[in-house]
Amino acid sequence: MPDVHVSMRGIEKTFPASGGGREVHALGPIDLELHRGEFFAIVGPSGCGKSTLLELIAGLAEASAGVVQFEGREIRGEIADRVGVVFQEDACFPWLSVAENVAFGLRKANLPAADKARRVDEALGIMGLQDFARHYPAQLSGGMRQRVCIARTLITEPRLILLDEPFGALDQQTRLLMGEEVLRLWRQTKATVFLITHALDEAAMLADRIAVMSARPGRLIDIVETGWPADRDSRIIERVEFGTITSRLWRSLRAESLKAGGRPADRA
Ligand SMILES: Nc1ncnc2c1ncn2[C@@H]1O[C@H](COP(=O)(O)OP(=O)(O)OP(=O)(O)O)[C@@H](O)[C@H]1O
Ligand SMILES: [Mg+2]
Repeated sequence: MPDVHVSMRGIEKTFPASGGGREVHALGPIDLELHRGEFFAIVGPSGCGKSTLLELIAGLAEASAGVVQFEGREIRGEIADRVGVVFQEDACFPWLSVAENVAFGLRKANLPAADKARRVDEALGIMGLQDFARHYPAQLSGGMRQRVCIARTLITEPRLILLDEPFGALDQQTRLLMGEEVLRLWRQTKATVFLITHALDEAAMLADRIAVMSARPGRLIDIVETGWPADRDSRIIERVEFGTITSRLWRSLRAESLKAGGRPADRA
């Protein structure tokens, strides 16, 4: 039996009507268990409720129905200790240096300055930013700025890392290489990773399991196990099974993306 790290039972989210419109049934019902230490990805059409689901797991929003548990405790309206989030369109603070941006992640931690400095160095090292500690975000590439955002989360030593389309704005090659960094980070920290992406190739390369969500209200319509070894990297995209996985994801997703009428998910 896998060790259940996060469990969702009967999760639904409905947003109340606003401005004379109708209420929006964004999500659910969803039942899902994330296993401790697994890399889990979720793909789905735009507007199907992926970010909403992440907010429920993070404790940033409350479900209209159902229960979310992290490490056996119910999550409700508050970010749990040891849960790290990198938001969609996350941004660094332009007026802080790279090291100061990363240290911001520890602003609430009651730690001696020397320990904070050591953890900043470690997080910069894991994300390959050690030579840029004194640089400012404007002096970095888009991919490097994303790494700063991830390092800022990493420094809190999360056991669960929630990533909402962290590479959305990057070009294809940079995305694959950033994916390798995230895989390395996942192996080093042994954290459970929950990644939202609209890119099927990214999900297929990174994850142990991939869930496909339906058009709104988002439900899980397929779960694909990749069976990759933990020490994988982007070369895995050359494997025959990679094509099989992305084809299956695309088959599940295509009809849903057309239903959603929005941005179709990127074909691998
Ligand atoms: N705070 C809110 N108030 C009202 N409606 C909301 C709120 N947040 C999200 N929604 C609605 O819930 C639905 C799901 O939104 P969500 O952001 O979770 O989608 P998504 O799958 O992350 O989309 P994308 O791929 O474009 O990021 C949308 O219809 C959205 O308008
Ligand atoms: Mg979103």
